[in-house]
Amino acid sequence: MAEAMLRASGLTAGYPGRRVLFGVDLEVRTGEVVALLGANGSGKSTLLNVLSGFVRPTGGSIRFGRAELAGAPPHRIFRHGIVQVSQARDLFPEMTTEENLRLGAIVRKGPIERLEAKVLARFPSLAEKRRHPVALLSGGEQQMVAIGRALMARPRLLLLDEPSGGLAPRLVRAIAAIIGALKAEGVTMVIVEQNITLALAVADHVLVLRDGRVAERHEPGNGADAEKIVRAIYL
Ligand SMILES: Nc1ncnc2c1ncn2[C@@H]1O[C@H](COP(=O)(O)OP(=O)(O)OP(=O)(O)O)[C@@H](O)[C@H]1O
Ligand SMILES: [Mg+2]
Repeated sequence: MAEAMLRASGLTAGYPGRRVLFGVDLEVRTGEVVALLGANGSGKSTLLNVLSGFVRPTGGSIRFGRAELAGAPPHRIFRHGIVQVSQARDLFPEMTTEENLRLGAIVRKGPIERLEAKVLARFPSLAEKRRHPVALLSGGEQQMVAIGRALMARPRLLLLDEPSGGLAPRLVRAIAAIIGALKAEGVTMVIVEQNITLALAVADHVLVLRDGRVAERHEPGNGADAEKIVRAIYL
């Protein structure tokens, strides 16, 4: 079996006066997609934020290749190639689509035009709106800008926090198609999702978080059905 690209073990984390993660183990191999599911408040975003460095873990280890990244600052983790699309998307609304996209490549040296053209080619509706302020884009288009900006960093590991969150069904399908295409190209991802159908369609492994612990692990390929997972999440 391939060596894990990311191996997190025993992760604990929280906020002042509140513990949220209680010893989470997570492995991601190159080219795999791992989906994190769980009820609201179960710690999904906290776990992604620990992996990207925005929340500092209080314990545990994050091995990424040969590096130990637990407790490293976000900019260092980013330079290792772990790139997050946060749940809030964190775009700059007054800046244009193109300016937001280019921020993803801010630490790259050399020309980025080809990279930008490649990223825009994935999102035809964005190409038309490259000069529009992001504030004028629809929710789905803004999510595409957020994903596009992450791709501009050429991530080795892409972390997506509820990419389909708050979107109409047609846009959920569009986002699902984009995630499916990224997976087919070999992009390694950890995805937090409330949309179980979307998660099961792309994930190699599904982890269900409950109260800051991994309560269940499933492999969709091995006939894990949605109903069982829904029960694991909400009961
Ligand atoms: N910045 C913060 N300060 C204090 N508490 C926080 C902070 N962020 C999250 N929490 C708390 O930590 C717990 C886990 O939150 P987290 O955002 O990780 O959950 P989640 O599984 O992503 O939930 P959701 O599905 O609603 O996005 C919640 O009880 C939340 O209120
Ligand atoms: Mg969340």
